[in-house]
Amino acid sequence: MMIHNNKISDNLISFTSKKLSGKIYPPADKSISHRSLLISSLAVGKSRIENLLESEDVMHMVQALKLLGVRIDKNKKGIWEVFGVGLDGFTEPEYLINCGNSGTLARTLIGAVTGNSIVVTFTGDKSLNERPMERVIIPLEKMGAQIVSTANNRLPLTVKGTTNLLPIKYENPISSAQVKTSVLLAALNVRGVTEFVEPYTSRDHTEIMLKKFGAKIRFKSSKNKKNVVFIEGGVNLKGNDIYVPSDLSSASFAIIAASIVPGSYLKLNNVCINYFRTGILDALKKMGADISITNRNKCTSEEPIADIEVKYSKLKGLDLKSYCSSRMIDEYPILSIAASVASGKTILRGLRELKVKESNRFDAIINGLRSCGVKVNYKGEDIIINGASGKIKGGTTINSNFDHRIAMSFLVLGGVSKNPISVKGCKSILTSYPNFLCQMNSIGMDIRSND
Ligand code: S3P
Repeated sequence: MMIHNNKISDNLISFTSKKLSGKIYPPADKSISHRSLLISSLAVGKSRIENLLESEDVMHMVQALKLLGVRIDKNKKGIWEVFGVGLDGFTEPEYLINCGNSGTLARTLIGAVTGNSIVVTFTGDKSLNERPMERVIIPLEKMGAQIVSTANNRLPLTVKGTTNLLPIKYENPISSAQVKTSVLLAALNVRGVTEFVEPYTSRDHTEIMLKKFGAKIRFKSSKNKKNVVFIEGGVNLKGNDIYVPSDLSSASFAIIAASIVPGSYLKLNNVCINYFRTGILDALKKMGADISITNRNKCTSEEPIADIEVKYSKLKGLDLKSYCSSRMIDEYPILSIAASVASGKTILRGLRELKVKESNRFDAIINGLRSCGVKVNYKGEDIIINGASGKIKGGTTINSNFDHRIAMSFLVLGGVSKNPISVKGCKSILTSYPNFLCQMNSIGMDIRSND
């Protein structure tokens, strides 16, 4: 790996925290970072990416694209420069592509290589190799790709790409930005118009960025409605400049920490507030959180950016419908922490997708909260949390199963627990939030190495 400077112990322990305060710039957005590298690689000419997230997942994307023949350098000012190879410009890699822990890397890059006449084999770490890939295999095969998986539609799998892909109309049964991106990137190499439909709009960073790079793409990104995207193939993309704002998914750990640790007041700068990512803020506000959005559109970027101010407040439970999940799919682990500390019952509905994330987050939330002394149940795909009104017992060890968001969520809960919470598998945090420990301790949390 290229990143060694942000070391973290695999075992951390989180103690009761004093009030949190200060100002932080949460890490750059992981989804936008992946897309900026990938779409720049497919463009003609040079692109410059400012504030790229230098986490393990994103550095795996850099390595993967280099193996496909793309030149990527970081200049002296810290700007990443990508020398795009054009739509059908990838070269066949000598080695297999290791996607590490990243589902976004695997699924989006599988789509992007499909329209190139090369053969590429993808693999990942233990967690990624257990995650379902048929969700991208099905539409890409309909377009004419040949994909062979020796592991029951999981990684490792081999893509035999072709420049003769066909346009399709594909109605995805679930809302998934990874699947949408995979199909849209494959569609760039198709002669004709591809139509992609999903039940509710998933994050639309790909559509926004493709448009900026000159793709012929039509989308409306309607709120709480069926989403339809059209893209015309064979249109060259042109290199561009991108600024990556801070990641609201990563910011959510500090936002919720400040909402539950009495007396806290925190400011988070330059956060991407794309509507299709901000479900967590709406949910927290319904729970009574004191959150304000200031300095909207402070930077020149096609993505909306703002500062977020958050003050401690007494939270109450909520009933969150399943359609909300497409706007906050990654935030359920940390939202479940807020719900545990709140008063009253919280019902989180329709969480089937959580079972196939970096770990089985559905089970991880239930088992983890129970071992911290919280009363939790489930019914079908719903999780029911009985809020402990701030009285969390803690004094337990959580195995994160190398899932970064599970690890960070339980470290946040340690900040309000009577007894400290230990977490195993914290090196996973480097996949998305390399300076988590240092940033959370800088605002007042007390998280220590427990090796
Ligand atoms: C992501 C999409 C989401 C999310 C993942 C990042 C992306 O997955 O869970 O962490 O960058 O496209 P799905 O598209 O599977 O919902």
